[in-house]
Amino acid sequence: MKSTLNNFYILIFALIALLVIPCDSADDACARLANDYKQSNGDPNFSLKHSDVQACFESFPYDKNLAKNTIETLKRSLQGFYVFLSQAKEPPQQGFSFRAMDLIKELDSLLSNNYKTDYQFMMDTFNLINDLKDPHLGFMQSCYFTFSYDQQLSLYSVVNNNEQIIKIFEDKKDKNTIDCEVTHIDGKPSIEVIKEYADTLPLSRDSGARFNYALSRVIFDDNGDLVETPGSFTSRRNLPNNSSVEYSLKCANDASKNFTREWKVTPKTPIMFNMFNTSKDYWDTFCLINDNITVPSSNATNVKAVTQKIYNVTEAKMVYKTSISEFFILSDKKTGVFVLSSVSAPDFVDELFEIQNGFNLLENSGIKKLVLDFSDNIGGSIELGFFIVYLLFPGSDPSFNQDMVVTEISREAFFQATAQSELKHYIDISKIPPFNISSNESIARWAADAAYDVTSGDSDFDAFSYKNPATHEHFHNAKEFIGNNANIRGGTPTKYTTKFVNRYSERLGTFIELVSGNFFNKYEWKNKDMIILTNGLCGSACASISQRMAIKHNVSTVAIGGYKDTQLSYASFPGGQIIKFDDFLEDLDGIGLLQNKTLVDLIPLPFEINAKFSFTLREAYDVVNKYDLNQEDVLEFIFKPAEYRIYYDEITARDPSVLWLKVAKLLN
Ligand SMILES: *[C@@H]1O[C@H](CO)[C@@H](O)[C@H](O)[C@H]1NC(C)=O
Ligand SMILES: *[C@@H]1O[C@H](CO)[C@@H](O)[C@H](O)[C@H]1NC(C)=O
Ligand SMILES: *[C@@H]1O[C@H](CO)[C@@H](O)[C@H](O)[C@H]1NC(C)=O
Ligand SMILES: *[C@@H]1O[C@H](CO)[C@@H](O)[C@H](O)[C@H]1NC(C)=O
Ligand SMILES: *[C@@H]1O[C@H](CO)[C@@H](O)[C@H](O)[C@H]1NC(C)=O
Ligand SMILES: *[C@@H]1O[C@H](CO)[C@@H](O)[C@H](O)[C@H]1NC(C)=O
Ligand SMILES: *[C@@H]1O[C@H](CO)[C@@H](O)[C@H](O)[C@H]1NC(C)=O
Ligand SMILES: *[C@@H]1O[C@H](CO)[C@@H](O)[C@H](O)[C@H]1NC(C)=O
Ligand SMILES: *[C@@H]1O[C@H](CO)[C@@H](O)[C@H](O)[C@H]1NC(C)=O
Ligand SMILES: *[C@@H]1O[C@H](CO)[C@@H](O)[C@H](O)[C@H]1NC(C)=O
Ligand SMILES: *[C@@H]1O[C@H](CO)[C@@H](O)[C@H](O)[C@H]1NC(C)=O
Ligand SMILES: *[C@@H]1O[C@H](CO)[C@@H](O)[C@H](O)[C@H]1NC(C)=O
Repeated sequence: MKSTLNNFYILIFALIALLVIPCDSADDACARLANDYKQSNGDPNFSLKHSDVQACFESFPYDKNLAKNTIETLKRSLQGFYVFLSQAKEPPQQGFSFRAMDLIKELDSLLSNNYKTDYQFMMDTFNLINDLKDPHLGFMQSCYFTFSYDQQLSLYSVVNNNEQIIKIFEDKKDKNTIDCEVTHIDGKPSIEVIKEYADTLPLSRDSGARFNYALSRVIFDDNGDLVETPGSFTSRRNLPNNSSVEYSLKCANDASKNFTREWKVTPKTPIMFNMFNTSKDYWDTFCLINDNITVPSSNATNVKAVTQKIYNVTEAKMVYKTSISEFFILSDKKTGVFVLSSVSAPDFVDELFEIQNGFNLLENSGIKKLVLDFSDNIGGSIELGFFIVYLLFPGSDPSFNQDMVVTEISREAFFQATAQSELKHYIDISKIPPFNISSNESIARWAADAAYDVTSGDSDFDAFSYKNPATHEHFHNAKEFIGNNANIRGGTPTKYTTKFVNRYSERLGTFIELVSGNFFNKYEWKNKDMIILTNGLCGSACASISQRMAIKHNVSTVAIGGYKDTQLSYASFPGGQIIKFDDFLEDLDGIGLLQNKTLVDLIPLPFEINAKFSFTLREAYDVVNKYDLNQEDVLEFIFKPAEYRIYYDEITARDPSVLWLKVAKLLN
């Protein structure tokens, strides 16, 4: 009797235990991820389960309030400041593809969906914003981007006998598949499947550039080694729909072969697994804003260290290298190549001199022609970009006119920022570094350093930071800067500021002239001696460099890859200026706008979630067509295809020097 009662109690206790400890790893997918990872003991072949990642992400229920607040912050930021909001309603020009939309209306309509999970809502928001194909505009909930998904093989596309096909670029698990043709993926024609995937990417308004991004290319890494950068079709950052991909191959001798490859799922930062044990931990640590926890950013160098294959450069010799560029001399002995893979240097002023050293070396070697390879370059500092244009075209004005949108809240931002700036007319000499007079170069370096520090503005909304390109005078007050310029774009009357360029001609002004040729060296190369080569993935400040050279200086352009018989842009997303949400709030806080009670309904509030968000603050205009003085074309929306096209083959896809030789022939 007694023992039966005891058993009964034990049974009850066990039931209660089951009910109150739902975090047992048997039914908590996030916990399973953590356990599996810990048990893998650093096995390099270990993969997390696709199904566990999906179940972990889908374990967080939709919270309508959180969703509403997220959308509200996005809407207030975009309605107040996103410069392309109206124009994004206009259908794309021929050559471009994106979903024209009323973004505010679309964001609102997400809230009327009956979501079950937070994941679904956040990914719909992510995808909606990506549909505009403006890479300066982006939103992502970071906790759904913590893993990498790798096929351990990669793809590329060649045109052979006038036919475009997909091939295997590299295969880490089975070397026998390399260079086999991929006829089908998941049972459908491979190009179709890759196009469908590539068109979900926000990378460019040009579908051909998106296709290039989905496929593998080679790039020069920080050591100057030529390595593969895997196409995103086989190397993803968000959870793929299926746990595996099926390939149908046609190899040498027409042997065909079908196989299925699982995604290898690994954490972007392994130490994330020290930061959670359960779904609740995962949500609190990675999904919500939590000032007490800093989530470490990904350790790319660590990943790279794992036996990166180095490809050979057979037709060129590297003669100089800076932190963001390489200089080569081709085997024809008369063509130099300038490879610029970023416009964002660790030391701005140092880079000004380093890049000159590279060009000086080419000139001193008797180089007559230049191939400017700006592939896979997503930009950086517009000032550094302009410096490069100045260097090759001294005395030119590399600026394109820009403006910002004028709304109730941005108007107030201009007034408050400019009012504060008026109080600070003096130059803060404490920012000027000590003078070093030992050589001409050191004087120029000093001048550049001093100018760079002194001219850096505090706020993007300060009218004193800009000048009027029509009068060449800086703006004297906010009213003059705001002006009275209404345009109808996307059927919506919209106000824009007076057109402007940066007051210090993108900060350095005469100092840039000083260090870029007027003081040291003027090169012999003329526009007809140069050609710009890109794979379309030359964005932002890189687009500014190449478009300025092409449009203002008539430098030829050639684009590589893309779809056969379809024109391809040589540059993508020239934009104007990107602003990251955190910097944006800091700026508004600095000028006192966040404290203004009358604007409380318009001011965006910080996210409650751990999100990354940025948008385009300024837009740049095309140069005025000499036959139409009223032309108001926004560069971002103008399709500018390259003059020449080249497609990859088995050799040029892996050895850019062979490609450069082909490109150099276009110069003759
Ligand atoms: C990982 O897998 C490869 C084959 O794909 C095998 O050669 C290698 O030995 C494995 N490594 C370990 C540590 O199991
Ligand atoms: C391989 O896949 C293709 C395309 O899905 C299909 O037509 C073919 O029958 C498959 N071959 C084999 C041997 O399964
Ligand atoms: C994944 O599935 C969703 C819904 O079924 C679909 O909208 C989306 O396009 C798919 N993504 C890819 C890359 O196939
Ligand atoms: C996912 O896999 C199924 C079969 O396993 C296939 O029918 C489907 O097309 C795949 N979906 C995608 C988006 O690849
Ligand atoms: C996870 O569990 C381990 C072992 O019980 C513990 O040391 C660690 O503090 C836990 N981590 C978190 C984030 O709760
Ligand atoms: C952060 O830490 C402080 C002090 O330890 C604590 O009072 C606060 O509740 C923590 N906040 C969160 C969100 O965990
Ligand atoms: C990144 O890698 C370096 C070198 O292996 C290591 O010292 C560092 O702790 C790693 N950082 C993170 C966040 O994983
Ligand atoms: C590079 O060239 C060396 C020497 O000719 C050769 O051994 C190596 O396999 C080549 N590397 C690649 C990736 O082709
Ligand atoms: C500086 O430049 C001037 C003019 O080019 C030249 O005459 C002078 O010798 C240079 N001085 C030094 C220290 O290099
Ligand atoms: C001054 O410039 C010379 C030559 O560029 C350099 O070697 C030296 O280190 C500089 N001195 C200081 C104090 O920066
Ligand atoms: C630009 O270059 C093209 C071809 O190289 C040439 O035909 C044209 O005259 C040039 N235009 C100007 C304004 O230099
Ligand atoms: C706050 O904003 C209102 C409306 O734009 C403006 O009239 C007022 O001057 C601002 N207040 C301050 C303290 O800047």
